[in-house]
Amino acid sequence: MPTILSIESSCDETAAAICRDGIILSNIIATQTIHEQYGGVVPELASRAHMQHIVPVVDAAVQKANILLSDIDAVAFTQAPGLIGALLVGGQFAKSMALALDKPLITVHHMQAHVLANLISHPKPAFPFLCLTVSGGHTQIVVCKSPSQMEVIGETIDDAAGEAFDKSAKLLGLPYPGGPLIDKYAKEGNPLAYQFPEPQIAGLNFSFSGLKTSILYFLQNAGASNVYKEEFKATEEEKKSFIENNLADICASIQYRIVSILLNKLKKAAQQTGVNNICIAGGVSANSGLRAGIEELGKKMGWQTFIPAFEYCTDNAAMIAITAYYKYLAGDFAELDVIPSARAEW
Ligand code: KG4
Ligand code: ZN
Repeated sequence: MPTILSIESSCDETAAAICRDGIILSNIIATQTIHEQYGGVVPELASRAHMQHIVPVVDAAVQKANILLSDIDAVAFTQAPGLIGALLVGGQFAKSMALALDKPLITVHHMQAHVLANLISHPKPAFPFLCLTVSGGHTQIVVCKSPSQMEVIGETIDDAAGEAFDKSAKLLGLPYPGGPLIDKYAKEGNPLAYQFPEPQIAGLNFSFSGLKTSILYFLQNAGASNVYKEEFKATEEEKKSFIENNLADICASIQYRIVSILLNKLKKAAQQTGVNNICIAGGVSANSGLRAGIEELGKKMGWQTFIPAFEYCTDNAAMIAITAYYKYLAGDFAELDVIPSARAEW
């Protein structure tokens, strides 16, 4: 019955969770709002905010779980990938806790944790399963054969799906992070109002940079054409009023295309691998269009689909805790001199 304290600090959420025997007892997240005014995460500000949040967040996780610090059997933290300064805060804190409590330390790979978030709630997917992990920094299709055996079989060659949402939102003048706002406005719009092109990328890899460019040209022409033509260039005024008058349709059409790019590759991956247990993970899996689309496609294809609860989709420490639980069972512990890393091998 291991009780594990887990810490996540790879980007702009400071999070702590307690799990006992694979059951999440608490899951606390402090989201940093300071980045909104800069249109993206500022690494130095993220590190400073982690420093401010980490003690109250861990305190809250321990209290909510109704445990004593002496009940903790291991301390886990996100070791990679992420912003190095941000990772260092969580890493140093976790190491100090492990040392003070004289308990083992467990390192967790952030992207593997997103995949294993699917093992938090019931019903859980049986192995092997495919996971489409879609976040602000990554877009991957992973085959997961066991909690410790995962292989990336497709990934983005340029922007991540979350970046595609956020950069499109920025072009529309929406604040960061724009993904949830596009989702919100898309609910009122017609997804077939505007046709953005689907990139033709061979195999299971993704590309989103072309979509961003086509949206840029589309807006520069105030919707007159998807193709950039200097003579059709709209004035700033025309562009602004076009966006204002058609925001819901534009958002619905952008979302439709991003989701169709994701689902078409996922379908291909399922056909190639013969795996029919399909999961999604990462911040973009909170998107209502993607959630509905995967269920609909799953019914058509005879898949068993699994979608983590909303709070386990975006960055959180519960997913770190569930991954650490399986590592604990496997006796996979780290030394105290382990260091975080911005990049990570699988
Ligand atoms: O996994 P995550 O919380 O952090 C990273 O590890 O990147 O993902 C954040 C990304 C952002 O790009 C954000 O815009 C996107 O997830 N996101 C959404 C939605 N909620 C979050 N994108 C589209 N629709 C949403 N509802
Ligand atoms: Zn993430």
